[in-house]
Amino acid sequence: MSNYHIKNLEEYFQVYRKSVREPEKFWQEIAEEHFVWRKKWDNVLSWDFSKPEVKWFENAKLNITENCIDRHLLTKGEKTAIIWEPNDPKEKALHLTYSELHKKVNKVANVLKSKGVKKGDKVGIYLPMIPELAYVVLACARIGAVHSVVFAGFSASALATRTVDADCKILITADGSYRGEKTIDLKGIVDKALEDCPEVNSVLVVKRTGSNINIKDGRDEWLEPLMKNASEDCAPEIMDAEDPLFILYTSGSTGKPKGMLHTTAGYMVYSAYTFKNIFNYNNDDVYWCTADIGWITGHSYILYGPLANGATTVMFEGVPSYPDFGRFWEIIEKHKVNQFYTAPTAIRALAKKDLEFVTKHDLSSLKVLGTVGEPINEEAWHWYDNNIGKNKSPIVDTWWQTETGGIMISPIPFATPTKPTFATLPFPGIQPVLMDEEGNEIKGNQVDGRLCIKYPWPSMARTIYGNHDRYRETYFSTFENMYFTGDGALRDEVGYYRITGRVDDVIIVSGHNLGTAPIEDAINEHPAVAESAVVGFPHDVKGNALYGFIILKEFGESRDRDNLRKEIKQTISDKIGPIAKPDKIQFVEGLPKTRSGKIMRRILRKIASGDTSDLGDTSTLLNPEVVEEIINGAL
Ligand code: WTA
Repeated sequence: MSNYHIKNLEEYFQVYRKSVREPEKFWQEIAEEHFVWRKKWDNVLSWDFSKPEVKWFENAKLNITENCIDRHLLTKGEKTAIIWEPNDPKEKALHLTYSELHKKVNKVANVLKSKGVKKGDKVGIYLPMIPELAYVVLACARIGAVHSVVFAGFSASALATRTVDADCKILITADGSYRGEKTIDLKGIVDKALEDCPEVNSVLVVKRTGSNINIKDGRDEWLEPLMKNASEDCAPEIMDAEDPLFILYTSGSTGKPKGMLHTTAGYMVYSAYTFKNIFNYNNDDVYWCTADIGWITGHSYILYGPLANGATTVMFEGVPSYPDFGRFWEIIEKHKVNQFYTAPTAIRALAKKDLEFVTKHDLSSLKVLGTVGEPINEEAWHWYDNNIGKNKSPIVDTWWQTETGGIMISPIPFATPTKPTFATLPFPGIQPVLMDEEGNEIKGNQVDGRLCIKYPWPSMARTIYGNHDRYRETYFSTFENMYFTGDGALRDEVGYYRITGRVDDVIIVSGHNLGTAPIEDAINEHPAVAESAVVGFPHDVKGNALYGFIILKEFGESRDRDNLRKEIKQTISDKIGPIAKPDKIQFVEGLPKTRSGKIMRRILRKIASGDTSDLGDTSTLLNPEVVEEIINGAL
């Protein structure tokens, strides 16, 4: 018998021990008892981290939408699957039942089929947080197409790179999107992106804002009339356990974004099982995750995990500040939300506002609070605990990654005692280790090191789409036989983990991963720029903000510096998106470099954070004199 719902600490330890001693038996029981399979697997797990190759539930047959929708129809057909809360609170919220969701998904699936989309084809999705986003994602899974959702805040250029890289020939978008008071010309961005995507020959457009848009004959069509005419029956495509389910891009420290490829069965089992336990979801609960479906958190914990459990999941179109800073709390009261999952950056921003935005709302429905995306600082943790959870709702600080597919380290509410800033203990099946720079495992407690995982788990990404070598290189080559996360962590005296942050050149700004290299590339495209280096520095709302050190081609030239700063920020915004704009730009005469020509980012990080008291060893620098100059320039 599997223990699908862990209720106390003793049980957690029992389950955890079993998951490590007999991992295959452990996952097999969960998979057998809680999901529907068209055919069971021949083998639970085969793996080799040196290749790396990982297969879960080999040769099993299933469709994930059958697990997320069809199987609930008999007992929960009339239960609300999705509550959609629009940007404008005056617009009516949508309560969509499982049986309505079934019909919508089938209709979109039939539309996709009529456009020639087949099993294995890649479908690009660039949609705001509207119900159609859920339908389209699930419709892809229904027919075995691989969805590649691009966050609708990304620029045309970022969308184009991802669309081409994922080999998408069809793209689903909307005429526009609402974000607070702003209306964004989504279709305009798509038109621009598609100039660089010659392979895309079909664009389906959802009507949301009613804006006046360009419809390109023979390429663009409105989705709604097509849906109206489509049948509401669509038999699910029977998929192999290891067939690709989706591609989702994440930033790397170098080069172009990495299209993490996730497969079907393992991802389903893991996202569902973690959801149930980490949010302590019970039958009539209303669960809300504020992430966007354009990120992994939305994939696993707005859609797949909750729906596989027959849960009611809230989808919110808007922003926490509109129409005022009480919007999150208003929505919790309105829909009687029981589990609330958000990012530390949102908590920090809202904690700065008048407490009345919180206190005027009834938050008594809340039972569990969650955070994700970056380390949560102690102050934000306590504010969340005191004011939102009223010290009775445990906070689950969940550590995981796009690559891991599901939550890896987290308290289990009502079982694991929480500790501010600690993600606490590994989820069953997860075997974290800390490594030193020489590649040795650091055993025991009260230690810190680089966080690795030494055993496969069902929802790990299987490759980087189109570049398996890069996958091996990035995650499996730093430490032999280990998955390297790129994060540093410490383990306290009782074995609790605290994630200390990235140890590579990825910077997390407001919970968004940004690689320094692509931002530097964007800056360098400005004609006045010779060279640049971007580092992160602590920011009280965003967690980290970006600081760009830039060498101009002609330093002495008396150009308007403020204007130049604006132009450079605009270039970054065009290439990547507004989230990648630096808070500070300093023009410098040189960058500190080692004799081998590498920029010493360690020094720049210190300067950016205003802490120049101890710059460490600068003797290996080729040009130690620039350090002084930069410091003086920064004052
Ligand atoms: C960071 C988000 C501290 C971490 C699901 C990781 C965290 C990166 C936490 C992945 C947390 C995520 N505490 N840091 N609870 N959760 N991170 O791919 O650096 O967008 O490697 O996935 O976010 O970000 P990603």
